[in-house]
Amino acid sequence: MKYHTPALLQEVIDLLDPKPDKKFIDATIGGGGHTLEILKRGGKVLGIDRDPDAIEHVKKEVHSSQFTVHSSGDLVLVQENFNRIGQIAKEKGFEKVNGILFDLGVSSHQLEAAERGFSFEKNGPLDMRMDPNLTVRAFDLVNNFDQRRLNEIFKTYSQEKLSWSIAGAICSARQIKPIETTDELAEIIKEVYRRFRKKGRLHPATKTFQALRVVVNSELLNLKEALPQTLDLLITGGRLVVVSFHSLEDEIVKRFFKHESKLKVLTPKPIGPKDLEIRANPRSRSAKLRAAEKV
Ligand SMILES: C[S@@+](CC[C@H](N)C(=O)[O-])C[C@H]1O[C@@H](n2cnc3c(N)ncnc32)[C@H](O)[C@@H]1O
Repeated sequence: MKYHTPALLQEVIDLLDPKPDKKFIDATIGGGGHTLEILKRGGKVLGIDRDPDAIEHVKKEVHSSQFTVHSSGDLVLVQENFNRIGQIAKEKGFEKVNGILFDLGVSSHQLEAAERGFSFEKNGPLDMRMDPNLTVRAFDLVNNFDQRRLNEIFKTYSQEKLSWSIAGAICSARQIKPIETTDELAEIIKEVYRRFRKKGRLHPATKTFQALRVVVNSELLNLKEALPQTLDLLITGGRLVVVSFHSLEDEIVKRFFKHESKLKVLTPKPIGPKDLEIRANPRSRSAKLRAAEKV
């Protein structure tokens, strides 16, 4: 099973234009798909991910790949939250770089690993933490928040139309026993959809699961904190590339690019995947790439 297939790989590489001795920060290294392409072209990379599985995977991948990392400084890996990107870059000697990439969201590995609890398609514990050191799991939200707070989460972070009823069904179900698994939660949501005879293209649990994941991992807050730190790290002409997978993230990026006078926007409209890519990698379908250059 492939760890992750990078979305918009060619587009990202064209924008970052890696060359020997140029420096880059991959703030979400995941399976290392984008980073390996940068390394192959001679670039140096500081790779960050808050998930230790990703860091371990990339170490192995680089070790077993055909090309050689010439010196230990070519790839530096750090298991950290990218909301500390400024500090991490300084500590690792990447305080002036040619490009920074954020490829947001979760990796296929995280979704496929049942025990991580990210997916309604794989039965596992209600976890969803990208970093196992986080103290709050999806289980804690689902079993402790009242109907009003759950409704707020589902409405705000995924625009779920049946948020109030789903929140109510969760509160009723947990009076009998705690909701412990992804299957149990998905079943409760499916039942609400059945009751309202609501059908759609997406699995009924898609939005609720997304909202819980965003909250467990403070995804929007981390992005809001990280973006301004990138300005001091980029050299003039350096590029910031962000690939996002849902509208709330994209909105944050769009607004940041628009209001930041030190950035020239290179993508008046976000770039999405071509049909060919969507066919080969259906998970890329919601990817939106925005890029800007430091002036
Ligand atoms: C879509 S994957 C990246 C895939 C990667 N570009 C590749 O080609 O394989 C997103 C990764 O970002 C990581 N991530 C998400 N939020 C993060 C944060 N705040 N700090 C560090 N890593 C984060 C996740 O753990 C995940 O591994």
